[in-house]
Amino acid sequence: MSFSKLKKVELHLHLEGAAPPAFIRSLAKEKNMSIDGVFDENGAYSYTDFWDFLKVYEAATACLKTPEDYARLTSAVLENCAEHGVVYAETFLAPDFCGGGDVVAWREYLHAMQEAADKAEKDSGIILRGIPTVVRHFGPDAAKKSAKCAVETAGDWVVGFGMGGDEKFGTPSDFAYAFDMAREAGLKITSHAGEWSGPEEIRATIQDLKAVRIGHGVRAIEDAALVREIVEKDIVLEVCPGSNVALGVYADWASHPIQKLRDAGVKVTVSTDDPPFFHTTMTDEYEMLSRTFGWDDDTFRALNIGAAEAAFCTDATRAQILKKLEA
Ligand code: ADE
Ligand code: ZN
Repeated sequence: MSFSKLKKVELHLHLEGAAPPAFIRSLAKEKNMSIDGVFDENGAYSYTDFWDFLKVYEAATACLKTPEDYARLTSAVLENCAEHGVVYAETFLAPDFCGGGDVVAWREYLHAMQEAADKAEKDSGIILRGIPTVVRHFGPDAAKKSAKCAVETAGDWVVGFGMGGDEKFGTPSDFAYAFDMAREAGLKITSHAGEWSGPEEIRATIQDLKAVRIGHGVRAIEDAALVREIVEKDIVLEVCPGSNVALGVYADWASHPIQKLRDAGVKVTVSTDDPPFFHTTMTDEYEMLSRTFGWDDDTFRALNIGAAEAAFCTDATRAQILKKLEA
């Protein structure tokens, strides 16, 4: 079976980071905006390292100015996901980029994205849910505003609360207030950790933010006691191997610790993070996992059932996902 047809669950996807380059170029043209430095001569996103990637990401995101832009983006992204067999996705949405942390504006952006997601679900069956996300290097005050947006819209569609951005900025405890607000409103917690920083960052994220999923978390492999803690606490890792290799966290696929983590009993899931930035798709990720580690259909089936179990949606939606995976 071709990996593109295999039904998949994707839990770690940044909506802006999934924007096709041509989509951003056409928005920039419509709005007469400069996108100097965003693309290389072949039209691909261009950056030198992770910190430059964050700058380029924000420059591309600046072309997304209205709820309608985000609706169009949602449609484009979901069409791509569905083409690669994704039946359920959770996407990170930063209130900072969707109305600057203002609750009224955020509601408008969210409404537009949900409408686009509803239409995609009718057209292709793909289900989307949203995870409002703090941009870490924007600091704790902006994080509280994002949390307020998340709390005000928490429900069946807004299912979690997360944090991405520069992992070297501040400490998880700096953001604990925002995460407490979100958790108390019933939102499930995930946060990027252990992508650039080491095991201590993952420990602090579990302890101070009460994260039940970790974005990346791959550097846990450097600390056997932490790996045991992750297994015992049933923490799920949102692993994005292609992203890690593209950004240079690991030199190549063979050096990536996903197999070792899985062998140690860690619940790993597989996602693309920011697919066009890293020249990947869910199909590519599966092909590389098969080629590098010999993962077969049974491995992928177990992987996707595990991801469905770790999804932040309601149990009714989870039952729908599991049915789609069986089909
Ligand atoms: N935002 C988008 N992609 C990210 C990544 N891989 N790490 C941290 N923040 C991000
Ligand atoms: Zn990410």
